[in-house]
Amino acid sequence: MISKIWKKMTKLSWVRKIMNDIILTLKENSWNIINMSAWNPLVFIEHEQLWKKHTKLLLSSDEFVNIIWRYWSSKWYNPLIQALKKYFKDEFSYIAENENILITTGSQSMFFYAINAFAWKTQDSNFKKVFLPQSPDYTGYNSMWLDENMFISIPPKPVKVAKHSYKYKLDITNFPDIKDVGIIILSRPCNPTWNVLTDEEMQQIYDYTEWTDIPIFIDSAYGTPIPNLVYTDMKTKFYKNTIYSMSFSKAWLPWERIWVAIWNSKIIKVLENFHANLSIMSSRFWQALVASALSNWDLKEISKNIIKQKYKAKFDLVNKYLEKYMPDNISWYKHKVEWAMFVFIWFENLLVTDDELYGLLKKRGVLFVPWNTFFNGIDKNKIKHSKECLRLSITVWDEEIKKAIKILSKVVSEVYN
Ligand SMILES: Cc1ncc(COP(=O)(O)O)c(C=O)c1O
Repeated sequence: MISKIWKKMTKLSWVRKIMNDIILTLKENSWNIINMSAWNPLVFIEHEQLWKKHTKLLLSSDEFVNIIWRYWSSKWYNPLIQALKKYFKDEFSYIAENENILITTGSQSMFFYAINAFAWKTQDSNFKKVFLPQSPDYTGYNSMWLDENMFISIPPKPVKVAKHSYKYKLDITNFPDIKDVGIIILSRPCNPTWNVLTDEEMQQIYDYTEWTDIPIFIDSAYGTPIPNLVYTDMKTKFYKNTIYSMSFSKAWLPWERIWVAIWNSKIIKVLENFHANLSIMSSRFWQALVASALSNWDLKEISKNIIKQKYKAKFDLVNKYLEKYMPDNISWYKHKVEWAMFVFIWFENLLVTDDELYGLLKKRGVLFVPWNTFFNGIDKNKIKHSKECLRLSITVWDEEIKKAIKILSKVVSEVYN
């Protein structure tokens, strides 16, 4: 007899289903499909040069053998911890100690530890949930628990800010009873939207947890200063119960699974225990590589002077084509641009669901991600907005962006008319 957990884990999440469909479609028709579904970062020669340079340095250093040949602490590869401490001090004037930092094998593992440590059944027989103050938010949090019904969220609050533009606002009035909450998770900047929670909104979340020790996990996969894709003036605050977390996968190491969790040392200790049990430690080779690139500021320089500008050029182009080709007489709204990588478009009163729109666009050779699955912890059947949005990844060739937006424009015109 196989366990209940197995049953939960084998149930294909909606996003795994759609990814299977995308892979199949690409297999059959890759030559004439524009794939705007993926979230791969843009490819830059500067990145290639950066990682080649630091790999060569590492291979020729006396440290190399020490790095790869011994088991060591499950928590620390010391040079990376020291590089991170210096980095956080220089960037945020924040003095971290070793106890404040943990390196995990990617975001999935950290969120798996966090959700199963701070939510679910508590020792005093209560049931605590994962509160997502934003809906939609990143889909990756979805498949991390071993039981059902762990998310709570609040209905989205899209506010129109210009003729074809809107922004999600945090709706503090709908926050759940704090007694039901075990952990808060949010991405800032937010994937899938173009939203970045403001400093005031973040403060509202801190105030909400003020008299509790509920951890707030801030997922900064696209944040400052690496990979630095943010275009608003957001501040990073190390509030008492926060874990700030960052990745190197958007600076070109998506397969290497290096994820940094930093701040509240008690929470870090909890995560560390999970990490030791499940992984022993994260890859030391890749930690050493990142330490090398971080220590001499190469990574930061590239993020600041190259990546940010190149993404900006991309979304300027996307904006231009949206303005030029999308029909003016239908109610489409792109999310206000506050950071780069995806375009998130809302079609108000769309006459088909986003899944159906996915099918229609697929037939015309454009793949995107229908985004209802990323509205988690709400009753999607009652909230039409959750089936009216789509996300396009902007990391395809410029010509493809133009072609795809023209096709999108045609298809939605047909749907509305
Ligand atoms: C908000 C967010 N968090 C985490 C991840 C995954 O990061 P990593 O691959 O470094 O674990 C992604 C995307 O791929 C993301 O969009």
